[in-house]
Amino acid sequence: MIQFPKDFLWGVACASFQCEGAWDADGKGPSIWDDFCHEIGGNHVKHGDTGDVACDCYHRAKEDVALMKALNVRAYRFSVSWPRIIPDGDGAINPLGFKFYDELVNELISNGIRPLITLYHWDLPSALQHKGGWLNRDIVAAFERYARVVAEHFKGRVDCFMTLNEPQCAAYLGYGNGLHAPGWKLGDADVARALHHMALAHSAAQRAIKAVDPGISVGVVSCGGLCYPRNDTPAGREAARKATFDLGHPYWAMTFSIFLDDLILKRYDDSAIPAVRAFADSIPAGDWELMETPDFIGMNIYNARPVDDDARQVREPVGSPRTATDWPVTPEALYYGPMNVYKRYGLPIWITEDGLSNHDMLYLDGKVHDPKRIEFLHRYLTCLAQAVAEGVPVKAYLHWSFLDNFEWSDGYDQRFGIVYVDYATLRRVPKDSAWWYADVIATNGDSLNGIPKYYY
Ligand code: FCB
Repeated sequence: MIQFPKDFLWGVACASFQCEGAWDADGKGPSIWDDFCHEIGGNHVKHGDTGDVACDCYHRAKEDVALMKALNVRAYRFSVSWPRIIPDGDGAINPLGFKFYDELVNELISNGIRPLITLYHWDLPSALQHKGGWLNRDIVAAFERYARVVAEHFKGRVDCFMTLNEPQCAAYLGYGNGLHAPGWKLGDADVARALHHMALAHSAAQRAIKAVDPGISVGVVSCGGLCYPRNDTPAGREAARKATFDLGHPYWAMTFSIFLDDLILKRYDDSAIPAVRAFADSIPAGDWELMETPDFIGMNIYNARPVDDDARQVREPVGSPRTATDWPVTPEALYYGPMNVYKRYGLPIWITEDGLSNHDMLYLDGKVHDPKRIEFLHRYLTCLAQAVAEGVPVKAYLHWSFLDNFEWSDGYDQRFGIVYVDYATLRRVPKDSAWWYADVIATNGDSLNGIPKYYY
């Protein structure tokens, strides 16, 4: 029997750069993602797509919130664009910076939807990048001030903040392999430095937010390569746990643990590769005292890798299903992921992102049929319920994403929304999965008992 706690929070998520558009409206400064997209000859983003218009959410708060309400959504995780509020990152505050967010937050509240703010979802003010971005420790003070300004502004209206989204991607894709803005390709030590500055920035921001109102809950959103056992035996489970937190492989920067160990355990795992160990040894002792344990861990989970009993990665069974981004469909991720992360850190867990890109299209009947998304979510949520049943304190599930949106270097080709966006007209069309999800929310997960209805 699938059951979720009575106060379980069901919602949807998105991020400023991916959906707002209005890239230079009302005094906003440029961000590294504006620069990355606009760089002539840069070819960083598929088809040369940009975030200039995106889903135009900046001008559609009322319409979008009305749609969330129609879909029974209880919480909306969105990010604030730092360069809208403080155009150069650490200087003057833009008097029009909160215009859109005020409208959005007020609209959400008056429709009974809880606003959840992410402070940093990768759109760093360009001016801070010119000073070294996350490699320059001064960013910690700039982020702390930005966090305070936003928390003060929304005092009494927003009671939950997430400081950083996926430090791993921001550091590794931004400063390691250069796939994301700012597109720098540096070595392991610099990636580790960026991650460490992010841990300090989270901590400073958490202190600043709590100083504004100690009742605000503050989390941080992590990501990384989760593992599940090919054989569900005690030995297999232990191997999957070990592989999940292994910092000894080339993708050490993309583990959940690299950031959370630094922040919460105040140490780097012994498995760390030599470059990371050397960086860890260079950290001033006083830094550990600055680390603030978050109130909850946000986990963005899309899939996991199977491992054998020796914690070695094995291939998925031949012919396994995949998504439009060619990511494997592995519902086990929502069971083993929260389970292992909870065992390691002992903090409440929010699923802050989960979902899939699908080859969606508008059908001749005017609807968007996406049975695969329904199937995917049904299976993933069933596994999440199992983790909950076994005692993992999972508090929320925030689906990625509400609308189709700008998927970073993949541009608009990938459709992650439960609501289809016709980019030519910006019209929103709820997909079948949106109505299916509305039922899941209305029944607090009870509708997951049984075979799903695939067409609406
Ligand atoms: C996550 C990002 C989010 C979105 C999804 C698909 O890594 O946080 O912005 O791009 O992946």
